Amino acid sequence: MTDKRERPALDSEEIKKDFLILGREVHPGRSLVYLDSAATSQKPEAVIKAMDDYYWRHNANIHRGIHTLAEEATALYEGARAKLAAFINAPQPEQIIFTRNTTEAINLVAQSWARVTLKAGDRILLTEMEHHSNLVPWQILAAEHNLELDFIPVTPDGLLDLDAYRVLLKHAPKLVAFTHMSNVLGTINPARTIIQLAREAGAITLVDGAQAVPHMPVDLTALGADFYAFSAHKMCGPTGIGVLYGRRDLLEAMPPYMGGGDMIKSVSLRSFRPNELPHKFEAGTPSIAEGVGLGAAVDYLSALGMEAVAEHEHQLITYAMERLSQIPGLRVVGPDLAHKGGVASFTMEEAHPHDVAQILDFEGVAVRAGHHCAQPLHDKFNIPSTTRASFYLYNTPEDVDRLVDGIYRVKETFG
Ligand code: ALA
Repeated sequence: MTDKRERPALDSEEIKKDFLILGREVHPGRSLVYLDSAATSQKPEAVIKAMDDYYWRHNANIHRGIHTLAEEATALYEGARAKLAAFINAPQPEQIIFTRNTTEAINLVAQSWARVTLKAGDRILLTEMEHHSNLVPWQILAAEHNLELDFIPVTPDGLLDLDAYRVLLKHAPKLVAFTHMSNVLGTINPARTIIQLAREAGAITLVDGAQAVPHMPVDLTALGADFYAFSAHKMCGPTGIGVLYGRRDLLEAMPPYMGGGDMIKSVSLRSFRPNELPHKFEAGTPSIAEGVGLGAAVDYLSALGMEAVAEHEHQLITYAMERLSQIPGLRVVGPDLAHKGGVASFTMEEAHPHDVAQILDFEGVAVRAGHHCAQPLHDKFNIPSTTRASFYLYNTPEDVDRLVDGIYRVKETFG
């Protein structure tokens, strides 16, 4: 047992009690150990209750109605936007656009800002460690508008090659789009430095923060990103709602992404006037209950403190790396602990990742196997897939022990 295990940043045994699902058995005699939070987090009782309460007591469509329920529902939904703005230190709540998820937020920037701003021959600079959500929208746009895509290389130890980045900036990209934290390697990228260098080179920045906002303090005013995207469902909130933060002047100048209700100020048969921010980008009835749930998730995380969440995950990944490194034939991909969040993706000599995940599931341990929507990154490391264990605020060192016991069971089966 390490010192860190004796002085936990969070009381995860207590926290687990907020998550009913973590108390269930998945197979007879096998209680659940949930190590798939990079895919989606579990939801605390407070979030589920807030959504229930919304449906039981306040359900109405927002913005349009003047009856009491509509006013209450609007206040809850807009209240969630304000909470979120404070949580990520966005200057104004209007800079928070609710989308369906991170993917939709990135597509919004591609199809609105980039589609009208970029011209044939313009360059977009991405990285080799992107999730497909921050690759494919740019591939689609590049094919339609003859744009050039460049990639910041990933070093063998799982970091972005910043020297190569400085050279690539000399080609004057119009956009630099990168992940704050890799969903496979766990690499926490130096977002502030990357953004500052991009700005000096005259590029707009977009950060995929899907794996960052749930796990560490994120201050968008300090970071200075032009666009920043993330999802509720990875941060104790519900599925079906995500966030695009944008610089106000950019958002003001951008055309709507989708047309319909709520995004207009007025409509005639042949034209429309777009609404103010943030509604200009929120066509149709939004995910109201999900917004309320996201607000409750922000309250939950704020009460724990994101510094403590980050420290807790650092302690867990430190312990996990210590234990995993002692297993013969197992290789964890990604950087050293100084640059790594709570993600351990690994290969084993004896078994394919799908077999590893299956045997771990028999033991009650939920992990993910595959390319984790980052196929080019796996190609770069010459591996078709990995088994990924990802940690969150409700995981304990005992969960790491159950993972390791399960891995020894894999070795017995295949060894
Ligand atoms: N992006 C999610 C993951 O990494 C789905 O699993």
